[in-house]
Formats: sequence, C-alpha cells, structure tokens
Amino acid sequence: MKLVFATNNPNKLSELQALVPQGIEILSLIDINCNEELPETNPTLEDNALQKAQYVYQNYGFNCFADDTGLEIEALGGAPGVYSARYAGQDCRAEDNMKKVLTKLEDEENRNAKFRTVIALIIKGEENLFEGECNGAITKTKSGVEGFGYDPIFTPEGCEITFAEMSKQKKGAISHRGRAVEKLVAFLNS
Ligand code: IMP
Repeated sequence: MKLVFATNNPNKLSELQALVPQGIEILSLIDINCNEELPETNPTLEDNALQKAQYVYQNYGFNCFADDTGLEIEALGGAPGVYSARYAGQDCRAEDNMKKVLTKLEDEENRNAKFRTVIALIIKGEENLFEGECNGAITKTKSGVEGFGYDPIFTPEGCEITFAEMSKQKKGAISHRGRAVEKLVAFLNS
C-alpha cells in the first residue's frame, strides 16, 4: 500500500518512516511533485489535520494522511495548543517558541504539559481520525539535539531525559505521534 504523508516537515517524515511496518510505503510531498505550503487555518488540531489531508487528496488524487500536533501546557491554560508552530510570532523559529515557553514558566511550579497529535487519513475519499497523547513536563532549560520543535524542553512522563536526548525509535515508542501512528497502522491492517 502507498500512502502520501502530507507534511513539509522532514523530521515528521523520517519519524513516520521509522514507525510504519514494511508493506506500507510512505511517499513524501516531493515524491508526488507537490511543492506547496499546505493550508492550516483552523482552530482545532482535528480540522487542521483534515484540511491538509483533504488538500492533497483533492488536488493530487493520492490516498494520504496528515497530522497536526499541539503542545498543551497546564499552567498556560492549554497554550500554545493548536498555535504551537507560531507561538512566538509569524515566521518564528523553534528556538523562539521554546524561549517564550521557558520565560512564561520562569516562576511556575506546575510544569505539567502534554503533546497531542491528530492524524487524518483519507482513503478513496473516506476520512478517519486517530489521536495520540504524551503527558510530561516542561524542563527549566533546553537539553539535547535530536528531534525538532519543542523536543529539547519536554520530558515525557516516567523519563529522566527530554525527547531531544532520545533516538527516533525511543521517542516513537512513547510519543504522541507514535501512539497515533499505532492506531493508524492497526486500522490499515484491519
Ligand atoms: P504542526 O503539527 O506541524 O502544526 O506542529 C505545531 C508545532 O508543534 C510546531 O512548532 C512543531 O515544531 C511542534 N511539534 C510538532 N510535533 C512535535 C514533536 O513531536 N516534538 C516537538 N515539537 C513538535
């Protein structure tokens, strides 16, 4: 089976390729000659994931899936949530986003947070959603160089190290995206 992963994020693509079993071939947007920025204009992860997958399905005709992820920080009332990518402003970098989070939590004891991922799958026009969560805590300082986004400041529950200090395989085994992909793969196998 061939499925397009509707993402322009090379980190997400390589995480996914490490998670799906042989027999499911993951194509990138480049593989289908899609060089566009995908629309992502909704206020929920669910609608954004669907919007990206629908865009690729309708304009390129491939069975595909897309994910949308948010970091929800308890002491910030669930922010940055669906706005995680641009938390520090339009065109900001991951460094800016992490700096903003660490500054906001400077004097905060409650560092509970969770990542939530929603994957939208479209096969022959039929839509399905899969969700994965990972609870954890925001660190006081950045640590590690692996992964992407907020990984250097997030320690998953039960771990002593951040996502950015883990291999792709270890992160995938416990991460929000890994859990959503598990459900996606179970669905594809059923
Ligand atoms: P999106 O799903 O690409 O819209 O991601 C929203 C924001 O969350 C971006 O800033 C990403 O870098 C960040 N993000 C998404 N997934 C992860 C992850 O697995 N670890 C850390 N940050 C992530």
